[in-house]
Amino acid sequence: MNTFSKSSKHHKLYLLSTFWTLGLLFLGSIVHATGSSLACPDWPTCYGTMFPEMTGGIFWEHLHRLVAGGLVLLFIVATWVSWNAEKTRPAVRQWSCIGIFLLLVQSIFGGLTVILKLPDAISTTHLALAFLFLSLVTVLTAVTSPTRATGVLLTEQQLGRLSVVKKLGILSAILIFSQSVLGAVVRHTGTGLVCPDVPLCFGEWIPPLGTMPVVIHFSHRLLGIIVLISLLVLAYKSTKTIEDSTIRTLAFTAVGLGISQVILGFLSVYSLLAIIPVSLHTLIAALLLSSTVYLSTLSWQEEIED
Ligand code: HEM
Ligand code: HEM
Repeated sequence: MNTFSKSSKHHKLYLLSTFWTLGLLFLGSIVHATGSSLACPDWPTCYGTMFPEMTGGIFWEHLHRLVAGGLVLLFIVATWVSWNAEKTRPAVRQWSCIGIFLLLVQSIFGGLTVILKLPDAISTTHLALAFLFLSLVTVLTAVTSPTRATGVLLTEQQLGRLSVVKKLGILSAILIFSQSVLGAVVRHTGTGLVCPDVPLCFGEWIPPLGTMPVVIHFSHRLLGIIVLISLLVLAYKSTKTIEDSTIRTLAFTAVGLGISQVILGFLSVYSLLAIIPVSLHTLIAALLLSSTVYLSTLSWQEEIED
């Protein structure tokens, strides 16, 4: 049955790091949405100090930096605890070290967004790296979890179905990641309001695709629908596995998140990119990625442990 380490201290630290990352992503999105990205003109200090007056845009930008610093420290502690607890699983140790490296690179990219005054490519890479780190910390949380998805030995047929769910989970996670990076392109190229109406675009289901801004914006809407379809298929297939499993719960949660995400996308346009809907849109994208990555990791564990 469960052969994972009994010590759950590092699991709790990874879990905390996952929630911390989600909070940090949300804050990062608020930094942009409130126009606070260049509120601190220098980096790593803000107006030459680590303790600036926390008012206006400085509040959001400097808070984002402080919370990012806290995540780096927390994740280093998680890796250190894991290093001692995971002597038999070197891959967990290695990936945790890669996580620290990723966070340091991400912090440098955060600094570059400020120093180079927000080039589109750097801002988009900053989001992509954040989502990559989120995926990694989610996998580490899942593989160090002391509980298994079902807690029972599975038959050959159930294992076959689980393999389908795993593949669909991975496909959905890849689609969500790509859609999120495309979303960042929409945001940073300023094409969020190119189609002024929702759900149609210029009154048509398929708008004239003559200009790049319309192509970028419309592709994001289209891929959003494809993501939703992949989540619906995943949830349907998960009902064919084991009753009441965590995998099933995660798959149905992802469908709920996917529907909310499309509604938030529409609200973002309808509200002319108001702070609340666009920031929640980033947060739900991150939750979607985390839940599908967790689901895929659990299904994969069931397969190899049975
Ligand atoms: C000290 C290090 C960091 C600095 C100086 C920094 C700085 C910034 C700045 C200035 C923005 C606004 C960018 C824009 O308007 O284009 C931003 C957004 C963001 N940050 Fe950071 N950041 C740091 C670390 C991190 C870390 C460690 C993560 C996550 C693991 C993260 C995740 C995000 C996200 C998701 C956004 C929103 C990106 C978007 O809207 O496309 N940041 N950050
Ligand atoms: C499951 C589907 C979807 C996912 C995972 C997703 C994800 C994202 C992400 C991560 C961003 C970038 C936010 C940032 O840089 O911080 C974004 C931007 C955006 N998305 Fe989506 N999205 C989805 C569907 C949609 C749909 C259907 C619409 C409908 C119009 C939409 C409209 C927008 C708009 C307008 C922006 C730009 C926001 C801005 O400029 O601040 N999204 N999306």
